[in-house]
Amino acid sequence: MQFSSRFDGQRAIVTGGAAGIGLSVARRLAAEGARVMIWDRDRAAIEAARSAAIEGLALDLADAAAVEAAAKTTVKALGGVEVMVCSAGITGPNRTTWEYPPEDWRRVFDVNVHGLFYCNRAIVPAMIAGGYGRIVNIASVAGKEGNPNASAYSASKAAVIGLTKSLGKELARHPITVNCITPAAVKTAIFDQMSEEHIAFMLSKIPMGRFGRVDEVTALILWLASRECSFSTGAVFDVSGGRATY
Ligand SMILES: NC(=O)c1ccc[n+]([C@@H]2O[C@H](COP(=O)([O-])OP(=O)(O)OC[C@H]3O[C@@H](n4cnc5c(N)ncnc54)[C@H](O)[C@@H]3O)[C@@H](O)[C@H]2O)c1
Repeated sequence: MQFSSRFDGQRAIVTGGAAGIGLSVARRLAAEGARVMIWDRDRAAIEAARSAAIEGLALDLADAAAVEAAAKTTVKALGGVEVMVCSAGITGPNRTTWEYPPEDWRRVFDVNVHGLFYCNRAIVPAMIAGGYGRIVNIASVAGKEGNPNASAYSASKAAVIGLTKSLGKELARHPITVNCITPAAVKTAIFDQMSEEHIAFMLSKIPMGRFGRVDEVTALILWLASRECSFSTGAVFDVSGGRATY
């Protein structure tokens, strides 16, 4: 299949683009013609990801002022932005809710919810000014179902789903779509943040009996980020090997 011109001339921001799903998305967007700016806190991984079409900024997305500054820098450097994919996220520890340390709960929300909110809100004005936009937020099937021993993560991803639905409706009369995806477990470095028991639990819940692959998630994100996705907004797209029931 030939996709080489889907993003010709477009400018994209990928948060969490230095690793895992975000890195795969950044590379695929670049391969299909986009100029990409990665926003990630991992400076060394950004350097490793750099190419002719991929640049990067190192920042903590939980810092609202840093995100505002990154948005200004990026719009100036690229001349505009058509695509934002928000992939940065953390899991927090695997504990019961009553044992969950409040500071870990707050950090999960600071990155997964507040950070994503800062990113979406910082880039919408540039998309309105440019007359076009595609925003893809990465939630999780945990946000629909609630995984045991992962209440902060599950609640944070439910918040991403709610934010996506609200923003999608707010922008529905603009040529800007906002959608999210809800993957089941995909083997990336994020597994290092989880217990073995939790990883085994997630696998046991997937009817296909295997983890998802980064390229399978990337394919869905790229479609949602493309012009082809024109009549879906504020929507939630499944990529869970049959786990999700709605
Ligand atoms: N891999 C899975 O099983 C899975 C399943 C469902 C949803 N997701 C979601 O997909 C997204 C990507 O996950 P992944 O598997 O690629 O994870 P990953 O750990 O491989 O990559 C996450 C990236 O986000 C960056 N990041 C984290 N916190 C940051 C911060 N505060 N500021 C800037 N950058 C930050 C990291 O440096 C890293 O490069 C996450 O939102 C995750 O919750 C993953």
